[in-house]
Amino acid sequence: MCTIVIRNAVDSDKSIILNFCQNTFSWGDYIQDIWNSWLSEGSLFIVEKKYPVGIIHALFSKNQVWIEGIRINPDFRRQGLAKKLVQHLELIAKQKQIQFSFMLIDIENQKSLLMAKNLGYGIFQTWNFYLLIPQINNNYEIKFGTNFDHSKIPQYVKSWRWLPLDKKTMLSLHKQKKIIFSDKTGSISIAILTDSEHFDKILIVTLISGSLSNTLNLISYIQNYGAENKYRKIQILTRSKLSEINTLEHKITFNLMKKSLA
Ligand SMILES: CC(C)(COP(=O)(O)OP(=O)(O)OC[C@H]1O[C@@H](n2cnc3c(N)ncnc32)[C@H](O)[C@@H]1OP(=O)(O)O)[C@@H](O)C(=O)NCCC(=O)NCCS
Repeated sequence: MCTIVIRNAVDSDKSIILNFCQNTFSWGDYIQDIWNSWLSEGSLFIVEKKYPVGIIHALFSKNQVWIEGIRINPDFRRQGLAKKLVQHLELIAKQKQIQFSFMLIDIENQKSLLMAKNLGYGIFQTWNFYLLIPQINNNYEIKFGTNFDHSKIPQYVKSWRWLPLDKKTMLSLHKQKKIIFSDKTGSISIAILTDSEHFDKILIVTLISGSLSNTLNLISYIQNYGAENKYRKIQILTRSKLSEINTLEHKITFNLMKKSLA
């Protein structure tokens, strides 16, 4: 029987991993674009059976571990390897006294959802991913700042990781004028603007949508901000369904999966 080893990834693993991470999804995969960043961030793990057959990446922060990039070579699936990789990260998290583990899964990725459920994860929230084309647009009225009920936005998306929005982060984003809101008509809409740390000129926006008219105000500002600052793409993550806003192109809906490690 062949032994299974889980170890830190090294640069020479790249080609063998990328060989089976080309056509993971209908649209391809992004591992080739992110491998170098994940390797330098650390916490990129390989599972090997004589040679590397799977990967996983994690970001450990104060009270949570963010798990991402699980890939198992199709010839080695259903052998419990993904489960072993996730459990490996959960063990490290527990040793660091981290309470929660999160991962993001496309609502159509049944295999992955079943894997997460099998490992004790539950659906915590559902988020929609929209694309917005940058465009000059002066038709908006927004406010900068944090003069709203902070419990409305407990977390924000930073490079596709859902992280707690603590006071320190909020202050820092506020100083950079990256927190905007509109409360002109009806329920408040709030947005947090961040730069992708992995891809050049991609704006990532966490949007809390209140009334349609407030949200439209924010969308117009963001569209203009994207054009003026020469962003290639604007990615919007929101829990709301915004099908009535025709400038937004719906891409994917995700389940944010959560597990308590305590
Ligand atoms: C999803 C994926 C990581 C699972 O890897 P795996 O090594 O085959 O999974 P495991 O063998 O550890 O399975 C653990 C459990 O997950 C569930 N599961 C995994 N694959 C499944 C499938 N094809 N059908 C039904 N259940 C499945 C089962 O409950 C399984 O336990 P069981 O075999 O005892 O029934 C793998 O299919 C993969 O790489 N898919 C493409 C990339 C991807 O979707 N990554 C996740 C993005 S969030």
